[in-house]
Amino acid sequence: MRLLRVAAGLVCLTSFIALLADLPPVLLPWILWFLAAAGLAAYLWPGIRTGLFVLVMLGLFVYMGALVTRISGGEIRVAAAEGISVEAGEAIYWGKGKCSTCHSLGDRGSAVRGPNHADVCAKARDLRVAERQAAGATQIQTATDYLVESLAEPEAYIVEGFSAAMPKVYLPPISLSVDEVSAVIVYLQAQGCAPDPVAIELPAAIRNAAAAQAGAESPFSLVLVGDPAAGRALFSDSAGPAGCVQCHTVAGQGGKVGPELTDVAGTQTLAYIFESIMNPSAAIAAGGYEPIQLQLSDGSVLSGLIKAEDDASITVVDKQGAQTVVQKSDLQRERRYPDIPSLMPGNFGELLTVKQVADLIAFLQESAGVLPVE
Ligand code: HEC
Ligand code: HEC
Repeated sequence: MRLLRVAAGLVCLTSFIALLADLPPVLLPWILWFLAAAGLAAYLWPGIRTGLFVLVMLGLFVYMGALVTRISGGEIRVAAAEGISVEAGEAIYWGKGKCSTCHSLGDRGSAVRGPNHADVCAKARDLRVAERQAAGATQIQTATDYLVESLAEPEAYIVEGFSAAMPKVYLPPISLSVDEVSAVIVYLQAQGCAPDPVAIELPAAIRNAAAAQAGAESPFSLVLVGDPAAGRALFSDSAGPAGCVQCHTVAGQGGKVGPELTDVAGTQTLAYIFESIMNPSAAIAAGGYEPIQLQLSDGSVLSGLIKAEDDASITVVDKQGAQTVVQKSDLQRERRYPDIPSLMPGNFGELLTVKQVADLIAFLQESAGVLPVE
């Protein structure tokens, strides 16, 4: 009898605590455990009825409170305790979100195509909000508003020195869910501000993206299904019609004139990759691939890619990888994109068959770990 009383009392107390802490239910919702155990304890233990009555009222109160928050949209706050955390965001940033293929964070990572995210939230608070407001975007009031906009509409504001290469990470191929986008934002908040999941208000574009994708047909399809093995052979044959390997590295093998392509199919859409191959000059990849032609005062001519530039000099890398620093005072003439085309040959549409292009894309998809679309 005594044991039963103590057991009932214990279950009653633990379920009350679980209710307070909003822990996930075990078998039954905690409120039912709590009521059943409280009833049993009151029956077995007449002496403590008044105390129990108070506890039951408290329990019901807590439960109603939790219910109301949930019904009124408070579930976002509840989720904050689980899937939307700095830790969850960190895992997505360095994993599924592919952020680290373009961004580094302080000393961590080596990607340079996008800005380094050290203290990105402090920067957002101290600089970007004012810059956005000066540009007329008065809806950007807080650092979090800026971070949300960076993901929702990357092209709304381009960080100086970078190009508009940031993909919409809530669309294919990255396809982060609403919770994953929120978690990544919490992780960015943690870089210089206090993480604050409640401040995140995602625009409809992100909230509806998942639903829209489920219903929509794939916006781009190659018709032909490529063969990754044939694509690999074509890519790696430096004397063949494609010769991509002369300029591009995949999985550690290849040239450095163009950007590394190991993960390109994991971060960019099929349409983007197709266009990059068929019409490279339509857009220039971010991170030091803008073509330039220079004529120096001594009459010599230099062409290559702009790797770095400041007020006094330009660092140019030629197709062979040789680097030259040119003083601007030595320049006689310069031509830049779009007056001159990308360094990537523009005639693959003639050199390659449709099947070969599909094979190359299938190879890039295999390399990035995304399955070729059927
Ligand atoms: C394919 C490359 C690429 C990927 C992948 C990428 N970004 Fe970016 N990102 C960029 C570039 C380039 C910029 C700078 C241009 C701009 O402002 O849009 C940028 C800018 C940003 C900015 C603004 C930074 C600032 O200093 O104001 C944020 C925030 C950001 N990215 C977050 C992310 C997150 C989070 C992910 C992953 C979920 C991600 N990016 C994935 C290329 C990328
Ligand atoms: C002579 C060197 C060269 C060759 C050969 C070459 N590329 Fe490129 N490629 C570049 C350069 C430079 C860029 C960056 C400038 C630009 O975006 O046009 C680039 C950009 C790309 C991009 C866009 C990458 C990004 O991150 O935005 C893709 C995809 C690509 N190349 C695929 C290929 C494939 C596939 C082949 C073989 C059929 C190929 N390239 C052959 C030089 C080359």
